Amino acid sequence: MAEVEPLDWKEIDVRLGEVEPEIAREVLLDLLTDDISPVIALSRLLLALGGAQETEELLAAVARRWGRPLDPRLREMAVLLHDHREGCDRVADMLREHPDPLRMSGPPEEIVATFRRFFDRSVTRNEEASVAAYSLGDPGILSQVTEEVVAQLRAWDLLGPDRSTLEIGCGIGRMQAALSPYVGEAHGIDISPKMVETARRRCAGLPNVSFSVSSGRDLADFPAERFDLVYAVDSFPYVHQAGPEVVETHFHEAARVLKPGGEFVILHFSYRDSTEEDRAEVRKLSRAAGFTLVMNGAQPFKLWDGVAFRMRKG
Ligand SMILES: C[S@@+](CC[C@H](N)C(=O)[O-])C[C@H]1O[C@@H](n2cnc3c(N)ncnc32)[C@H](O)[C@@H]1O
Repeated sequence: MAEVEPLDWKEIDVRLGEVEPEIAREVLLDLLTDDISPVIALSRLLLALGGAQETEELLAAVARRWGRPLDPRLREMAVLLHDHREGCDRVADMLREHPDPLRMSGPPEEIVATFRRFFDRSVTRNEEASVAAYSLGDPGILSQVTEEVVAQLRAWDLLGPDRSTLEIGCGIGRMQAALSPYVGEAHGIDISPKMVETARRRCAGLPNVSFSVSSGRDLADFPAERFDLVYAVDSFPYVHQAGPEVVETHFHEAARVLKPGGEFVILHFSYRDSTEEDRAEVRKLSRAAGFTLVMNGAQPFKLWDGVAFRMRKG
């Protein structure tokens, strides 16, 4: 993120002026107070406004009002949009088709099936955008964020040549490809057969990487004490969406398949946009599954806005 002199809150407010809708104003405030990076802000604006054209118009209006010099974060967002115009349109299309979490109901199998269809379709359009809207379809942006996540897992001492790892909701296998040099085994599971097919193709030739299609409801395919690390990057909100029983099962299952001392790491827990509520729920679930909660809803990343939860077995 660009380093700038911190602006007084009031000054930001005045310079932004009227921005409609309110959600877009909130995104810009988060950006200008360094809560989120320009790539995350741009993907949120695309979601809020529905397209690249609308986002461009809003940014142009904000720039006119802001005056000179333009804040470097606003400039960076405008440049990203300009340089990734087609990717932004594709991301906006995908976001429009994304099942609305607030309107979903029904049994877990139905919810899992809805997401399976969505991800099966999305990955055939653009692999990077299908797993991360903020990538804007650009492999370079996605790999910067992937590196940020891998560096954090390393800093937490969760990797090593003797470690077996399992990702729940692996998508196109970007984490497995990046972890391969640092772990003994990188396995990924996903409910979407097309995601698994894509991940296998992208990771072909990496001997310690493997993938399988999962039911989305448990980890029944794995024996007890099989892994040193079980983790979920941006996929647990979908598990959460499938209902409290599925969430609870995943916590107990993660505890079962982990070796003593192993960790369960969730990067983004739910869609409800309340870290406080997520913290309370994770605290309860981790206790019930016998975990020690070692991190409860921190934001350790600069580029990505992932909220981190870490639980240790034993
Ligand atoms: C936003 S993508 C993230 C993929 C990958 N973790 C990454 O960050 O690149 C979410 C993935 O979770 C998968 N998914 C959704 N619900 C799931 C569930 N209940 N169990 C396993 N995977 C699930 C989707 O198919 C999709 O590939």
